[in-house]
Amino acid sequence: MAGLPSGIRHYPLMLEPAQQKQLLDDVRQVVSVAPLYTPRMPRTGKPMSVRMSNCGALGWVTDKEAGYRYQAFHPVTERPWPAIPDMLIDIWQKVSGHDRPPEACLINFYEDDAKMGLHQDRDEADFAAPVVSVSLGDSCLFRISASARKGPTQSLKLHSGDVLVMGGHSRLCYHGVDRVYPGTSTLLSKGGRINLTLRRVSEL
Ligand code: SIN
Ligand code: FE2
Repeated sequence: MAGLPSGIRHYPLMLEPAQQKQLLDDVRQVVSVAPLYTPRMPRTGKPMSVRMSNCGALGWVTDKEAGYRYQAFHPVTERPWPAIPDMLIDIWQKVSGHDRPPEACLINFYEDDAKMGLHQDRDEADFAAPVVSVSLGDSCLFRISASARKGPTQSLKLHSGDVLVMGGHSRLCYHGVDRVYPGTSTLLSKGGRINLTLRRVSEL
């Protein structure tokens, strides 16, 4: 099988099961303060199939009226986002190769039939830092392009405890989630997949 595109690094099972449980507890703590909500596409207002929340100084949000953006408060509660859990900061320090800490952590929750279309992460002012993504719960089929242009893609499975880094030449790669595989993890008692995406947002 061909290797991953330059700038993409996959760390299978970087978190062992006990660490996954601890991180899940941290995420539960975050969403008890900043509840998951249903984001809506710009202009059309179409609901996304993924529910979202954030932690960190800034959170990524989208709605019909104002579209994709970062903001310092939850769009429903209007409260500041909770802090990014230490375990995620540690992961960032280990794999990002970037000396400044992440400013934003998007929390995506996928039910059995949720997916995410191919897109680029480009709402940040600076692309020097990579995007670091951590998966928990059910496995998914992740699709990724080799560069910033829409073109050939390759697929890989992401499992609970996996970490994926998208940086360098692939910082602006297209990526998405084709499907979740229900029943592939026992971490979440009711099933589903959680993805945590760490990013720098502002310019240095
Ligand atoms: C995202 O691109 O925001 C999510 C990626 C994922 O769920 O693995
Ligand atoms: Fe993304």
